[in-house]
Amino acid sequence: MGLFSLTQELAIDLGTANTIIISNGKIVVDEPSIVAVDQHSGKLVAIGNQARQMHGKTHQNIKTIRPLKDGVIADFNAAELMLRGMIKKVNFSGHLFNPSLRMVICIPSGSTNVEIRAVRDSAEHAGGREVSMIYEPMAAALGAGLDVEAPEGHMVIDIGGGTTEIACISLGGIVCSESINVAGDVFTEDIQSYVRQQHNIRIGERTAEDIKIAVGAAVSELDEEPEDYVVTGPNILTALPSTLTLSYSEIAYSLEKSLVKIDAAVMKVLEMVPPELYADVVKNGVYLAGGGALIRGLDKRLHDKTNLPFHIAEDPLRAVVRGTGIALKNINKFSFLMR
Ligand SMILES: Nc1ncnc2c1ncn2[C@@H]1O[C@H](COP(=O)(O)OP(=O)(O)OP(=O)(O)O)[C@@H](O)[C@H]1O
Ligand SMILES: [Mg+2]
Repeated sequence: MGLFSLTQELAIDLGTANTIIISNGKIVVDEPSIVAVDQHSGKLVAIGNQARQMHGKTHQNIKTIRPLKDGVIADFNAAELMLRGMIKKVNFSGHLFNPSLRMVICIPSGSTNVEIRAVRDSAEHAGGREVSMIYEPMAAALGAGLDVEAPEGHMVIDIGGGTTEIACISLGGIVCSESINVAGDVFTEDIQSYVRQQHNIRIGERTAEDIKIAVGAAVSELDEEPEDYVVTGPNILTALPSTLTLSYSEIAYSLEKSLVKIDAAVMKVLEMVPPELYADVVKNGVYLAGGGALIRGLDKRLHDKTNLPFHIAEDPLRAVVRGTGIALKNINKFSFLMR
C-alpha cells in the first residue's frame, strides 16, 4: 500500500450471522453481525464480538440488534452503523489521505430490487464510492475454487445463519437456484425449543448455538461421535436449576424438521438442472459452504438422499468472502458483477 494509492479495495460478506472483510488479499475483519446501541441516544455502544458478549444480557438502556434477518437487511440504520464500524476497523494507516473505497459486496440470490438497493445504500453511506455486487452462491462457488465461467455445471449449497441458498452455475451465470429461510438461526431455535419442550429447561440463544456447534448433527449415527454436552438452566416449572446431558443423536432429532426442508430444497434444484449440466454435477459433486456445512453428517445425509458426491468447501465459513475477494481482483473481467 503506497503513499499515493488512494483507492482501498474491500471484499465484504455482509452475513446474517457474521460480517467478514478482505483487504489486500487478507481477512481483516471477521466478527458477528451485531451492534449494541444506547436506547435513548441511539448512539453506538459496541459492534461485532464486543456486542455479541452483551447479546441477551442487556438492561433497559442498551439494546443489541442483529441488523440482518433471513439474509437481508432488516434494520437499515443498524446495518449502516455496523458496516461503518467494521470498515473503520480496517487499518488505513498506510495512506496519507482517506482512501476512496472500491467494494464488492455479496447479496442473496433471491434478493428483491428493494433489498439490493438497501445493501447498496448502506455500502455507499459507509463510504463506498464504487460498489459492485455479487450473488452469494456465485461467490461461494468461486471461494470453493470452482471455475464458474467454464461451460460446465457446478452446484453449491450455502447454509448461512439466515438463508440456505442452493444454485447450479455454468458459464458465469446462475442457471437455477432456490433460497429458503431455514439455516443456522432456525437450527438454533429448534434446539432451544426442543430443550424447553422435552426437558422443561429454558436456555438462551447463545447456549443453544454452543450446543449446535458442540453436538450439532444431521444424522442419528456418526462414525466420529462428539462428546455429550452438559447444559444447566432454569426448570420452567420450578425455576430451580436443572442439568441435562445432550447427545448428538438427540440434537439430530431436534433438527430433523428443518433438515427435511433443506433436503426438499436441494431436490427441487436438482429437478430444475438441465440434463447436460446434471451430468457435470454427478461428476463434480456438490459443494457445501457456510457455517451450516459444519453440521456433522450433513454431507452424508445429502449423499444418502441423492446419491451424488458432496464436498465441504475448505474453511466453509469463509468461502463466500474468499470468492468475493476473487471477484474483487477480477472486477473488470467478471461480467456477472452488478454495478
Ligand atoms: N461448527 C458449526 N456447526 C454448526 N453450525 C455452525 C458451526 N459454526 C458456525 N455455525 C453456524 O453457522 C451460521 C453462520 O454461518 P455463516 O457465517 O456462513 O452465515 P452468514 O453468512 O452470516 O449468514 P447468511 O449467509 O445466511 O446471511 C451460524 O448460525 C452459526 O451458528
Ligand atoms: Mg453467508
